Amino acid sequence: ENKEGVKRGTLMVMEGCDRTGKTTQAKQLVEFLNSAGKHTVFMRFPERSTHIGGIIDKYLSNKQELDDRAIHLLFSANRWELLPEIQKVLKSGTNIIIDRYAYSGVAFSAAKPGMSLEWCKGSDAGLPRPDLVLFLDLTPEQALSRGGYGTERYESQKFQERVRENYHSLKDNSWKVIDADRTIEKLQEVLRTEVLNAVNSVKQEELPILW
Ligand code: TMP
Repeated sequence: ENKEGVKRGTLMVMEGCDRTGKTTQAKQLVEFLNSAGKHTVFMRFPERSTHIGGIIDKYLSNKQELDDRAIHLLFSANRWELLPEIQKVLKSGTNIIIDRYAYSGVAFSAAKPGMSLEWCKGSDAGLPRPDLVLFLDLTPEQALSRGGYGTERYESQKFQERVRENYHSLKDNSWKVIDADRTIEKLQEVLRTEVLNAVNSVKQEELPILW
């Protein structure tokens, strides 16, 4: 509890390769927690509505080219620019579910030639470490069978395979690896148990930091 006697909110993150169902599941989890009386908001990265997010959006939709390092740093900067907002929400006692976070930042950038995991981790070092990371795991073949990838950059099977390998090397003890090869309803059921558990067991006042 803080000075005002408010328990801080829980920081929860959904991660996974493209087409694993993260956004659908995250939004349903936010509704579920709110209906259970646990005030929760949805956030996402990249947050495309900011100035930096606008550049990221252009890059992802192939309207703008950028050096691999430059775009990596912009994805990180997009998280840092929203950190004050995240801290404010958590401090007020509200939980957050974020659709993608620094793990995406590293897993995707480090899947590019000549980009190392260590270098990629640098620019997110110091961000709060989530209480819970729900990693929705699906093989690229399973993801592809869900109607194919879209046309944004990174949406190819070869690339997604490398991303998935990188994700697995970033796991720490806040991660739950969840087999996402189930119906939307079944998957939601599994995830609800995890988020309730996380929200009910948050104790520390201060979140630790990455990495
Ligand atoms: P979205 O589909 O969840 O909006 O994410 C857009 C793409 O951006 C997706 O392919 C993952 C990628 N990405 C990064 O490369 N670095 C990052 O830091 C984030 C948050 C996403």
